[in-house]
Order: sequence, then C-alpha cells, then structure tokens
Amino acid sequence: MDKKYHIRLSREDLQGAVTAILPGDPGRVEKTARIMGPAHKLAQNREYTSFLVEAGEGLKPIVVCSTGIGGPSVSICVEELAQLGIKNFIRIGTTGAIQSNVALADIVVSTSAVRLDGASGHFAPACYPAAANFYLTRALVDATEELGVPHHVGITASSDTFYPGQERYDTLTGYVPRHLQGSLEEWQKLGVINYEMEGATLFTMTSAMGLRGAMIASVIASRTASEKPQDEVLVLAEERLALCIKAVRAKIENLD
Ligand code: URA
Repeated sequence: MDKKYHIRLSREDLQGAVTAILPGDPGRVEKTARIMGPAHKLAQNREYTSFLVEAGEGLKPIVVCSTGIGGPSVSICVEELAQLGIKNFIRIGTTGAIQSNVALADIVVSTSAVRLDGASGHFAPACYPAAANFYLTRALVDATEELGVPHHVGITASSDTFYPGQERYDTLTGYVPRHLQGSLEEWQKLGVINYEMEGATLFTMTSAMGLRGAMIASVIASRTASEKPQDEVLVLAEERLALCIKAVRAKIENLD
C-alpha cells in the first residue's frame, strides 16, 4: 500500500471517498467525524490526523483530516488527498470577524478569499481569483439556512500570519510593518467579513487543479468587540459548525 508522504494515507484507507472535511485543529478531527456517522481513526502524523466516516445508506465514506495552520500545511494536505481521489474539499475553521454586524459564534461561509498568503502564489499568478466552488458553497449556505444558524456569506481575507497580517499590535514589539498598517480598516471598508489563514490557498489550489473547495468558519473573535476567545463562545461555535457539517453531508452526495 502506497502511503502518502505526510498524511500517511493510501487509496485503500479512503475506501472510495471523494469528499474531505478539513478542520485546522487535529484535536477536532474525531469529534467532527463522529458527528457525521460511525467513524474510525486512519492515521496521525505531524499536524495531519485523519478519521474515515464510514459509508451509510446511500452515503459515501468521507475522510476528515486536519490541515494544521496556514497555507503551506493546507497545500500538502490537499495535494496528497487529491492524489488519492478526493475531489471535494470543505474547510471547517475558526475565524476573527472584522465587521460590526457579525456576532461571536456566527457562521461565515466564504465565497472567495483575499490572497494575503504566499502559498497560493505557487499554484496560480496573483491575478487568479481565490474563489470557492459554487456547488459546495451553495450546499453550505442551504445547510446553515435550514438549521437557522446565524450566518454571513461573502469575502474572507486569508493571511499567512495571525499577528501582523491581521494587523494585531498586541505583540512583543507592538510593531506592524508600514505596508500592513491600516490594512484591517481597508478590508472592512471593502466589505471583507473576516480573517483566517487557510482559505486563499485552498480555493486557489482547488480551482487551479479542477477540484472543488469551500469553507465554513465560526467566529471566535471579533476585532470590533471582543478579541479574546471565551470558553462559552468556543463551545457554541464548535456546536454550530458540527451541525452544519452534518447537515451538508446528504446535500453533496451527487457531487463526485
Ligand atoms: N483565526 C484567525 O486567523 N484569526 C482570528 O482572529 C481568529 C481565528
């Protein structure tokens, strides 16, 4: 069995799965998998922990694999899963909202991402859009609407860094390089909903490779209200993400 370099998975492990759910945090993989159905552990190496959600009545198996933080680690995960036959990639993550009408624990479904990363440039030139796949995104929006979960749909900014790239001054030096000073306000004025760190790489890669990518994220920090994540927000945010991802499974069965 040919196991891929980093994710340590083979085609046999995936049992014909064509969809991957991608949390950033390895600690969220098992819970995410089990909410969708009976599941078993596949592998664990570095930031890549994986579980397989078994095929059910009329349902194909689904792999849940953590990506770690940031574009470079996402790119490895997507490349290796794609080589094993995965076509649909749905990132489920956490995010910081930058608009005042977005509340803590709200859900953001991203239609596209501002490419504040470096990794996406290794897959397509800067003028190429980081756009989510329409069909996967429609399924995510339908799921959040049917569940009545408060949600927002639109543009996300994906930054390589959590601190300067998202214009945070609570750092050792308190300095943000000049070209990033005022960037948060600029994204706000341009209607960007939120910051996170993986979407631009995922969307650029999947589009460029003829695959499908989408992203749903729960808001754990608000740059206009409360910056530090609170435990009750984290719990609610995770619950809402889990509900949405469970509801989306049946909606994407016809995408192969
Ligand atoms: N993830 C981010 O990248 N930024 C935030 O503010 C919260 C989560």
